[in-house]
Amino acid sequence: MGKERSEKEKVGGGEHNKRNMFVSCVVMNSCAAELKLALTALLVLCSIATLFQILPSRFAISASDLRFCISRITTTTTTTTTTTSIAPLNSSSSTTSIAPLNSSTTASLTPSPPSAQKEQVAANGAIKRGFNPYGSAAYNFITMGAYRGGSDTFAIIGLASKPLLLYSKPTYQCEWVPESSSASNSTFSTVSYRILPDWGYGRVYTVVVVNCTFSEAVNGENSGGKLFLEASTSGGGDKNFNITDRFEVLNESPGDLNMTLFSSKPKYDYLYCGSPLYGGLSPQRVREWIAYHVRLFGERSHFVIHDAGGVHEEVLEVLKPWMELGYVTLQDIKEQERFDGYYHNQFMVVNDCLHRYKFAAKWMFFFDVDEYIYLPPKNTIKSVLDSLSDYTQFTFEQMPMSSKLCLSADYGRYYRKWGYGESWCTET
Ligand SMILES: *[C@@H]1O[C@H](CO)[C@@H](O)[C@H](O)[C@H]1NC(C)=O
Ligand SMILES: *[C@@H]1O[C@H](CO)[C@@H](O)[C@H](O)[C@H]1NC(C)=O
Ligand SMILES: *[C@@H]1O[C@H](CO)[C@@H](O)[C@H](O)[C@H]1NC(C)=O
Ligand SMILES: *[C@@H]1O[C@H](CO)[C@@H](O)[C@H](O)[C@H]1NC(C)=O
Ligand SMILES: *[C@@H]1O[C@H](CO)[C@@H](O)[C@H](O)[C@H]1NC(C)=O
Ligand SMILES: *[C@@H]1O[C@H](CO)[C@@H](O)[C@H](O)[C@H]1NC(C)=O
Repeated sequence: MGKERSEKEKVGGGEHNKRNMFVSCVVMNSCAAELKLALTALLVLCSIATLFQILPSRFAISASDLRFCISRITTTTTTTTTTTSIAPLNSSSSTTSIAPLNSSTTASLTPSPPSAQKEQVAANGAIKRGFNPYGSAAYNFITMGAYRGGSDTFAIIGLASKPLLLYSKPTYQCEWVPESSSASNSTFSTVSYRILPDWGYGRVYTVVVVNCTFSEAVNGENSGGKLFLEASTSGGGDKNFNITDRFEVLNESPGDLNMTLFSSKPKYDYLYCGSPLYGGLSPQRVREWIAYHVRLFGERSHFVIHDAGGVHEEVLEVLKPWMELGYVTLQDIKEQERFDGYYHNQFMVVNDCLHRYKFAAKWMFFFDVDEYIYLPPKNTIKSVLDSLSDYTQFTFEQMPMSSKLCLSADYGRYYRKWGYGESWCTET
């Protein structure tokens, strides 16, 4: 916890301000044992109206790490158009094939002892040393979800080896294979891929969103088909090899595709995508948070909660009634803990949520459960969002809670009082 904390503090300082001049960002927080106190303070500290005056053109309500990230993805898109035609591999998933980059090199997936290089004395008298690789330490790609975004476009959300992405240029390509081989030939997409830099804190893995857009509609006949992703190392990892992993990411059964989803009125007005919850969450705080925001967002709202280990039995008990009423969807994402990324792979999780639910709501919200949306008196969430209807994206102004609100009796024990693992006390 200590480490996460210092990371966030770093981010809350100079980093943010550099990156988004519209938002002054300090994580709102309370270490007050009494949440009421926290809210009262918010009413005083946080005023949307003020912001309207300062920032008439690019208005912001409050900000957390996430939103920065999301606005930054859209601005840092790299587009790669791949025109190479690939001979379709067999349709079984997880086929691995190697195409040697250097045509004089013989492809071999796992250099085994027989092929191991031995020390040799060269003609010039030098001892030629060998280097023998075994195994691989990070996966080429780990999928979380793949979603259709229209008649001809898909998004694949996952993790990829961080050094591979940072220091070399892996390539991605999608292939659509129709269900019935007689229908049509498989089609290859152009791929634009986006990388979330996760502020440099991710370690073994980093988040990748692969956007596959085909030149024409796929599965237009609704006869079913499969989407495959081909992830190639293109000489990253081993300059002599271009290792391509090809795997199925999406399967549409015949008749499954319903294109009205993309054009019909969304089911919800507001959908909340939560960051991974972990640690010893306080059920009381979660109960207050959810009740407050269900009331704020109203009947046509929905909350997607991601459990990275924080939804223990008592927290689940608090969420259960809201799940039964249809307000909450709980996603168990504990498996991602196997893959070391930034902050319980937060950016992968929220990007998955974005693509999974984006046709289900008018607006999606990304903030943490130690943050509360505050609207000044006489405003409703609807009036505020109606005033922003010309925008596709906005950020929030974040206001910190004053540490002066902390009960002195709680000094040094804030983390026990406040429900969330990533919170800390901020001086204002
Ligand atoms: C690919 O499919 C063909 C025909 O189904 C089969 O003969 C061949 O053995 C397969 N190759 C691999 C590598 O699975
Ligand atoms: C391919 O291998 C040959 C012989 O080992 C070498 O001379 C050449 O530089 C290599 N080319 C690349 C692109 O690595
Ligand atoms: C992929 O990118 C294109 C171009 O930016 C965009 O129109 C499309 O909606 C994206 N696809 C998905 C599934 O997000
Ligand atoms: C499939 O590809 C072959 C060879 O490129 C072409 O002759 C044929 O017309 C294609 N079939 C369809 C249905 O597009
Ligand atoms: C590696 O292979 C992929 C798939 O065949 C291809 O698109 C890519 O251009 C190759 N990379 C290099 C550097 O040749
Ligand atoms: C497609 O989805 C819409 C709602 O999004 C639904 O009303 C309609 O019945 C669906 N059509 C089919 C053929 O399932």
